[in-house]
Amino acid sequence: MKKYWTKVDNFLNDSLILKPKSCAWIEHLIENNKIPPIGITPLQGQFLSIIVKSIRANNILEIGTLVGYSTAWLASAIPEHKGVIHTIESREAHIKVAKQSFKHPDLKNKVILHHGSALDVMKKFPKNMFDFIFIDADKSNYSQYLDLSLNISNRNSLIIMDNVIREGEFLNKWNEKKVSIHGLKKLYENIKTRSDIEVSVLQTVGSKGWDGLMLIRKKKKR
Ligand code: DHB
Ligand code: MG
Repeated sequence: MKKYWTKVDNFLNDSLILKPKSCAWIEHLIENNKIPPIGITPLQGQFLSIIVKSIRANNILEIGTLVGYSTAWLASAIPEHKGVIHTIESREAHIKVAKQSFKHPDLKNKVILHHGSALDVMKKFPKNMFDFIFIDADKSNYSQYLDLSLNISNRNSLIIMDNVIREGEFLNKWNEKKVSIHGLKKLYENIKTRSDIEVSVLQTVGSKGWDGLMLIRKKKKR
């Protein structure tokens, strides 16, 4: 069955998606700079873009730029002159390529790249600043990223976290030493103790294997 995941993913990517020009440009940079294939797929990019448009998010934060492919998808969903995306990356090699990515004319005025540890950078943003936050960085700090995100996102915001399943490895005791697995366990323990958020996870399959996207919303009275 697994071999069909990629086939179907390729079919969907080819038949449903019209990529923004900036994304096609960054795909070339990814290929030319031998960046590992750990970014989002076009299908996932369109998914994020639809959500951003649906909630009319103008101010976006991304944790984990890699080289800016997901940033470009998110930026494409922000109306011109209405908002920006702040994106944080810690690795020098990726920052170098990301800077080239953001020279694209469609991104120049929409993207603010922060070089550093997300845990430090996030503490500098004011409360309620963001309408949408996409977390796709080192899994070891996911629990802290969630806490900090809840501080700096407003009451109508949405938070999406990538890679919250990772083939379900976090349920296997023998993998507990892996920091990424430990990070996911901590994330789920954290969520269990919180009464201020509503959370769901969509398990996904595709060319990137078996994984999942977590959707988080602040609870409020209706
Ligand atoms: C890895 C990271 C990701 O964000 C992802 O979507 C897939 C894999 C990784 O570091 O292996
Ligand atoms: Mg990811």
